[in-house]
Order: sequence, then C-alpha cells, then structure tokens
Amino acid sequence: MKILTLDDFDLKGKTVFVRMDMNCPIDPETGEILGTKRIEETIETLESLKNSKVVVASHQGRVGNNEYTGMSKHAKVLEKLMGREIKYVEDTIGEAAQNAIKNLQDGEILLLDNLRLCAEENYEFTPENAAKTMMVTRLSKLFDFCVLDSFPSAHRSHPSIVGFAQVLPSCAGRIVEREIRNLDKIMTVAKSPHIVILGGSKIPDRLEAIKALIQNGRADHILVTGLIGNVFLRAQARIKSPLEIKNEDEVVAKAHSLIGDYPDVFATPVDIAIDKDGERVEMDVREISKGDKIFDLGPKTIEYYSKLISGAGTVFISGPAGFFEKEHFKYGTKEILKAVANSMATTIVSGGHLTTALKQQGLADKINHISTAGGALVLYLTGEKLPMMKALEDSAIKYRSKG
Ligand code: 3PG
Repeated sequence: MKILTLDDFDLKGKTVFVRMDMNCPIDPETGEILGTKRIEETIETLESLKNSKVVVASHQGRVGNNEYTGMSKHAKVLEKLMGREIKYVEDTIGEAAQNAIKNLQDGEILLLDNLRLCAEENYEFTPENAAKTMMVTRLSKLFDFCVLDSFPSAHRSHPSIVGFAQVLPSCAGRIVEREIRNLDKIMTVAKSPHIVILGGSKIPDRLEAIKALIQNGRADHILVTGLIGNVFLRAQARIKSPLEIKNEDEVVAKAHSLIGDYPDVFATPVDIAIDKDGERVEMDVREISKGDKIFDLGPKTIEYYSKLISGAGTVFISGPAGFFEKEHFKYGTKEILKAVANSMATTIVSGGHLTTALKQQGLADKINHISTAGGALVLYLTGEKLPMMKALEDSAIKYRSKG
C-alpha cells in the first residue's frame, strides 16, 4: 500500500483528529437514523485508538436536504454500540469545540457536530487552500495527528478531508485500509461481462463517472434505476413530461448524449411504481403521466434486469432502486439485491442504503465486497485518484520513515 496505516504509528497519549463518514439514511418524517452501518464501521478504528484523545468529525446530509441534521443521535448510537461514553459538543470549530478538545483525557472520544455547519466544509479546495481554511487553521493546532477514514467521502476535496493532512502527519483508518485492500484484490481478477447497476439520487455524480467506467472496461452494461433511471427514460423521451428535478435540462442532455455515444450499453426500466394518494400503483413506462411521482421499479423491470445480472462475470451495484425509506417502495431495491446475491458473478455492493437493505434481507454473506461508500467507490473504480487517497499518499511520502 502506498499509504500509511494505524500500524505505522504509536499514537498513545496523542490527540488525534479522526475524519469519519457517519452520513446515514435519515427518516424524512421522524428525523431518526434509519441505518447505522456507517457508525458501526467506525468502531474498529476507534478501538485501535483506545489510548489516545480521540476527536471524531463527520458530515451528515447536505445543507437544505432532509438528511441535514446535527450529530447528537449519532453520538448516542455510537455510545450504545461501543458500550462507553461518547462526549458530544454542539459545535464544530468554535470556542466550545476547542475547549472540549483541550479537556479530553487519554481514552476519551469526543464527537463534533455536523462539519457542514461550518460553511467551508461545503466547498471544494485545493489541498493547499484547504490548509488555509479556518477549520484547519483553528483546529489543527490542537492535534498531533490526523486519521482519514471517511472512504465514502474520499472523492470530496473538503477541508476536513484534504486540509488537515497538509499540516499533520496522517494515515488511513481501518475502513480505508480494508476498502483499498479488498477492492484492489477483486478488481485484478474481475471477469467480463461487467454489469453496473446505478441508482440513487446523486445524479450529477453518477453521470460524471459513467463515461470513465465504460471507457476503462468496468461497465459493459449499465442498468439504471432510481432517479437516474427516470433521467434516462426522459432522455429516451419515454417519459414525456418534466421530472421537476434540479438542473433537469443539463442532466437529461448528458444522459441523452451518453445513450447516443454508447447505444448498446444502457438498460432502462420498462415498468415503474408511482405514489397515488399514499398507495403504490404499478404501470408500464408508457402510461406515466404529468405529475406522477415515480418511486420504484415494477416487476417486469426486475425480471428483465435479473436476467442480465444472471449472465454477469462481475456486478457492481450502487444506490437504491427506489424510495427505499418508504416501506411500499422497497420492492425494487430488495429484488435487485436478491438477483445480485444469487448470481455467480463477483459482486460489489456500494452505498449506505444498499448496505442497510442487504443486512435487513440477510444477504450480506453472499456478496464479495460490501462498501458503505457510494459515489466515492464509483469514482475509485473508474481509476480516478480520489482527493483523500492523494492526501494520504502525500503524507506517506513525508512521514514514512518517521512513524
Ligand atoms: C455519501 O453518502 O456518498 C458521502 O457521505 C458523501 O456525501 P455527499 O455526496 O453529500 O458529499
């Protein structure tokens, strides 16, 4: 590995900044955390740091969306999972956070509030400029060391992900170490045909990665689901009325040009399910009318996609196939996961929602690699260097002999 890990350093008695990704699915109505897998995953790294003063930092949601919340519930979940006190401060870089960090004792863990409360964490920076942000300049002086373990956000060049590593010796935590080792092993033996199943709602991220996945031989067929499926249906003019999503013209045009460039690669849904007065109603895509809220795949699409999946050598799936948080729109996601788990292919399942769904269905043992990362993993598979991995590699060059 070109990066350093926790085994390369003795961090006993040191104050350590640990960037985790505890960004979890949140119930849009109650605000409760729906799947705690990303929080569970942090434990191994935190146990490895049991003799240090540990400050954990994460984002949750995006400013303005339903999942943008504080981290107090995450602290409670972590406390229960670890069976020990987790201190929590409702602050990120201000005096309250700084005092809480200064008062930590060896063996204590403090969770900061949602990093995106600090405006800077919502922007991308070069590593050099990230190191000049208030977040990094104010906090880094309180730390001896930085552990980067937020693999799901490794594709963001936010201050907490690329800035601290500029000014503090930094290494990967256990999550990043495991992800890189497993993925590199799997991808060297991956067989064709490669089937990629893309869903979820982060459309620009996904569209950006598709071309690279096709061009580097990682995607022979792409089965689209979820919101991105709707965008492709619109690009094929099979949905006639606007979807009413952000930057619609731009994303539909991109999907249209991808279909034009790679006409044999994409499979799109043939039937879907909409929400009608709180009920699930299934229909052929030709029957969709203006204002219909498409929230899931229908059974014919499941049959069509399952057949394709059964002939795959490698399957990579990222993002839910529908509005997974709602009970009656879980069907598509569950059925697709079943087809993936029962296939003979080498399988990679990616993203917080799918990881939660797999666990609920008891299918986790049938998958070769499960990653809580979504967009970051898609980009990793394209071969692109992720900003966090670059930060870790740069730190390894600086500190390899000094551990
Ligand atoms: C994710 O869930 O993909 C990561 O937490 C990154 O979140 P973001 O796409 O809001 O940056």
